Amino acid sequence: MSDEVRLLPPDLLDLPIGEALFTQRAIRKFKPDQISDEQLKILLDAASKAPNGGNLQLARFLVIRDPARIRAFGKLYKEAWWAKRREGPGWTTIEDIPKSEKTFRSAAQLADEIGEAPVIVLAFAVVSADLGHSVLPAVQNLLLAARALGIGSTLTTLHDVVLPRVFEMFEIPDRAQFYGCIPLGYPRGKFGTTPRRPTAETTYWDTWDRPPPWR
Ligand SMILES: Cc1cc2nc3c(=O)[nH]c(=O)nc-3n(C[C@H](O)[C@H](O)[C@H](O)COP(=O)(O)O)c2cc1C
Repeated sequence: MSDEVRLLPPDLLDLPIGEALFTQRAIRKFKPDQISDEQLKILLDAASKAPNGGNLQLARFLVIRDPARIRAFGKLYKEAWWAKRREGPGWTTIEDIPKSEKTFRSAAQLADEIGEAPVIVLAFAVVSADLGHSVLPAVQNLLLAARALGIGSTLTTLHDVVLPRVFEMFEIPDRAQFYGCIPLGYPRGKFGTTPRRPTAETTYWDTWDRPPPWR
């Protein structure tokens, strides 16, 4: 077993877990300030601690730091984002997105700006079976650790139309399955709160549709 596996929590990760959990949210506007290698190691170490199927540890992360590579990737991300919108609601420009669709308008802005993000992390599984879903708990750990360090993040996806070019750009082997793209940076703005439906509406007690004992 390597030292890495036994690693103690870094002193920098001292935000109370409750605060991290309740204020971690999608941050899509970043300051240009750099994130250090030491901080990135903390995020990746936190990701490595996540539950994973059979403890096979099949998650792999590609950290993109080089600004030129981030810019090149950003063009593909933008193409992918709009390809999904064309196929879905049929939007082709920001003007097509209703003002009420705040998340999508903010996501469209991220698609414009992601090429300037200080860091992008791509998440993969080196597996062809269902165990690949083990990547997502690792990603969530990474997002929470980022929040604890004051670093903003958003879990995003890509579209199949760009994947072959992304794989070629970073020499990613075919056996790697893509799971997510996570831009990272210090937030322009605040973490704020995470508005969600009350859990009384989304939780059932003993029987489907029977409410839990809280409101
Ligand atoms: C599977 C998944 C895919 C997502 N894809 C995108 C995306 O492509 N672009 C984006 O900006 N945000 C994406 N998000 C972030 C969600 O939009 C965000 O978690 C949700 O709107 C809640 O935002 P909040 O935590 O700021 O309240 C994704 C989240 C998940 C879990």
